[in-house]
Amino acid sequence: MIIKNVSLKNYRNYENLNIHFSNQMNIISGNNGQGKTNLLESLVYLSLTRSHRINEDKKLIKDNQPFSKIQSTIQTKDKEYVLQTIIHPNGKSLIVNDIPIKKTSEFVGILNVILFSPDDLFLFNDLPKERRKLINQEITKVNKKYLNALNQFQNILKDRNNLLKRDKLDENYLNVLDEKLIENEIIIIQERKKFIELMNQTITSIYQDISNDPTKIEIEYKSCIENLDDIKNELIHLYQNIRNKDIEYHVTTEGIHREDIIFKMNGQPLIQIASQGQKRMTILSFKLALIEYIKKQTNENPVLLLDDVLSELDDIHQKNLLKRLAGENQCIITTTEIHKFDGMNFKEYEIKDGKIIGGMQ
Ligand SMILES: Nc1ncnc2c1ncn2[C@@H]1O[C@H](COP(=O)(O)OP(=O)(O)O)[C@@H](O)[C@H]1O
Ligand SMILES: [Mg+2]
Repeated sequence: MIIKNVSLKNYRNYENLNIHFSNQMNIISGNNGQGKTNLLESLVYLSLTRSHRINEDKKLIKDNQPFSKIQSTIQTKDKEYVLQTIIHPNGKSLIVNDIPIKKTSEFVGILNVILFSPDDLFLFNDLPKERRKLINQEITKVNKKYLNALNQFQNILKDRNNLLKRDKLDENYLNVLDEKLIENEIIIIQERKKFIELMNQTITSIYQDISNDPTKIEIEYKSCIENLDDIKNELIHLYQNIRNKDIEYHVTTEGIHREDIIFKMNGQPLIQIASQGQKRMTILSFKLALIEYIKKQTNENPVLLLDDVLSELDDIHQKNLLKRLAGENQCIITTTEIHKFDGMNFKEYEIKDGKIIGGMQ
């Protein structure tokens, strides 16, 4: 898919911005603090209906302004969409082709972007919660069944934890909740397993291709169950086994809300052995594998947003990465330096203080 244009009104440091993108490579240059990340963030917002940087939408509204608006025309293989989000201090409105959308799930995923950011490196050190968030985000963008199961699971988990906190426990009701919990967890585990299998099919060859290093990269699924070929029975046993513990601790101690993934290099946990450069290459490979996953699931090419990631790579790795990216996918790349794109076909924009001051428009 292609982002044809975006206009921002009172978004972060932008008062009014209109920008038309090339179908291929777009380079947004500018010094620090001028609005490069803000621009990419607005596109992430259109994709996920939230920022990748902050939880409080209010901060996205330009200082001293009543609301903020992001509008963009998206061209997919067979349809054109005009997406709008209006962010107010107390909430947001979502609009597709002039029709207000009530359910966030009907808006999420129309625009599919993959963001590459220097902050991605935190993924290895973050708590499992952040890795689960990433997996959930990527699967929900392309799979409504998963999104639905995840929402249901979260509601049932809340009910189950509330029940476990009561003085007098209704075990029949607990049985009912366990059954519903398991029903949704089966879908979630199946899809997480499939996601990780598909990622593992490509990640090593991508890593070797962009890094010229024969290391094997693997993502291990740390599931709450052991045998992923017998999910239902495993879950039934799990909840039988932990019942007394859960009653004692007044909380659901195990389930898909405690799962994790582990990145491995040649069979060893990456976090223990990888250099900074290898970590960087692994996260890039993960994102590139994600492109393949999204393509397979949606039959569309996601738009790639690269926020200042090139400056962290040496020339060879930059070339390897750009060579892989150029071509099929539209790319929007921010950078503080411009000279590295010699010989490549791109449209260039320079941003200063929330305005385009140079390049072609
Ligand atoms: N709500 C807001 N209102 C006005 N300016 C904002 C708002 N949020 C962030 N900014 C400004 O945006 C700038 C940072 O933009 P950013 O896109 O992160 O820069 P960079 O070009 O380095 O990626 C800062 O100058 C910051 O003060
Ligand atoms: Mg930035």
